Amino acid sequence: MLTKGKVLRALKQVEEPDLRQNIVDLNIVKSIKIKRKNIDLDLSLITQGYSSKKANFEEKIKEVLSSIGAKSISLRFNTMTKKEQADLAEKLKGSKIASNTQGPSLMNRNSQTTFIAVSSGKGGVGKSTVTVNLAVALANQGWRVGLIDADIYGYSVPQMMGITEKPLMIDSLTLPVEKYGVKVISMGFFNQPEEPVMWRGPMLGKTLRYFFEGVYWPKLDYMLIDLPPGTGDIALDIHTMLPRSKDIIVSTPQTTASHIAERAGSMAIRNKRELIGVVENMSYLLLATGEKEYIFGKNGATELANSLDTELLVQVPIGAPNHQSFDSNDAYAVYHSESVHGEIFGELADKVILKTSYSKAVQEVQ
Ligand SMILES: Nc1ncnc2c1ncn2[C@@H]1O[C@H](COP(=O)(O)OP(=O)(O)OP(=O)(O)O)[C@@H](O)[C@H]1O
Ligand SMILES: [Mg+2]
Repeated sequence: MLTKGKVLRALKQVEEPDLRQNIVDLNIVKSIKIKRKNIDLDLSLITQGYSSKKANFEEKIKEVLSSIGAKSISLRFNTMTKKEQADLAEKLKGSKIASNTQGPSLMNRNSQTTFIAVSSGKGGVGKSTVTVNLAVALANQGWRVGLIDADIYGYSVPQMMGITEKPLMIDSLTLPVEKYGVKVISMGFFNQPEEPVMWRGPMLGKTLRYFFEGVYWPKLDYMLIDLPPGTGDIALDIHTMLPRSKDIIVSTPQTTASHIAERAGSMAIRNKRELIGVVENMSYLLLATGEKEYIFGKNGATELANSLDTELLVQVPIGAPNHQSFDSNDAYAVYHSESVHGEIFGELADKVILKTSYSKAVQEVQ
């Protein structure tokens, strides 16, 4: 015989599509009516209109209920009231039900997430390009990856990844947007304030802190942080907030660019943070013959890595992504994993893993 207890037990296997938590604990199941083998459910969705995900969600509910013997199932969907949303946000913030999420503990000392800040002394050398493609390469390997676009004024990640979707907000809690398997948050997702001056000083720090603490991050292996150019306020804030973060320095081959990058690197060293290494971007032109033409000189990044006592991780050639390879061709900075660039970013991901998680695993075994 079907009972409410059995139905609830079965519904625990169904996850809410955005939060990836079971719908019973999230209080989405509002009422259950059972008449012999017919089940009537009232469900309260977090917000209206996630239609593409809703179809799978409905199907999953029907599947688990059929498996316990239901013959007909009717579902009625409502949207949570503001009060219900606020209660849910509180519950999520307190992580009372967040068994496989991290919530506020992202900043916790015991968090298993490796933070990687991508910086450079100079603007326009490819920090965002490197951050985005490293994130996608790590996600392609199955790692759980988050990306914070910490360039609050000059954000570029949403456009680079072709993200047009806005994040889901539950009361004051924001859910990151997922693209190519990477969970992303950027100032570009929010309405811009009318007075840009507001965003100087304390507001800037607050926004950044909100990105870490006000966003409902799932459990992550890697959190990549795309820094604005230079060694300014945001870089310092990040370094204070995340003393354990590791750094990747991006530079172009020109000696001047690498000298400036050295400043970012020496700041990391002064702050006793670990440098993962240097990525040289726009290193060469790949000729049709397969030869590499080093138009900006050859040894800049090697010298930079030597002077910082670290490794030159990869050299990325000049070249635009091949847009045809992705279904959405507006992700103008994401290289296909099988392109020359994609393979180089895959190699970068491997090196990053070896220098971070792998060493952690080895330490755990010892
Ligand atoms: N290897 C490359 N080949 C060709 N174009 C590239 C390459 N790397 C980056 N670019 C392009 O150069 C421009 C600057 O790159 P990007 O925005 O990644 O630099 P950035 O260091 O993040 O800049 P900012 O300091 O403004 O944040 C972008 O238009 C990007 O698409
Ligand atoms: Mg940038």
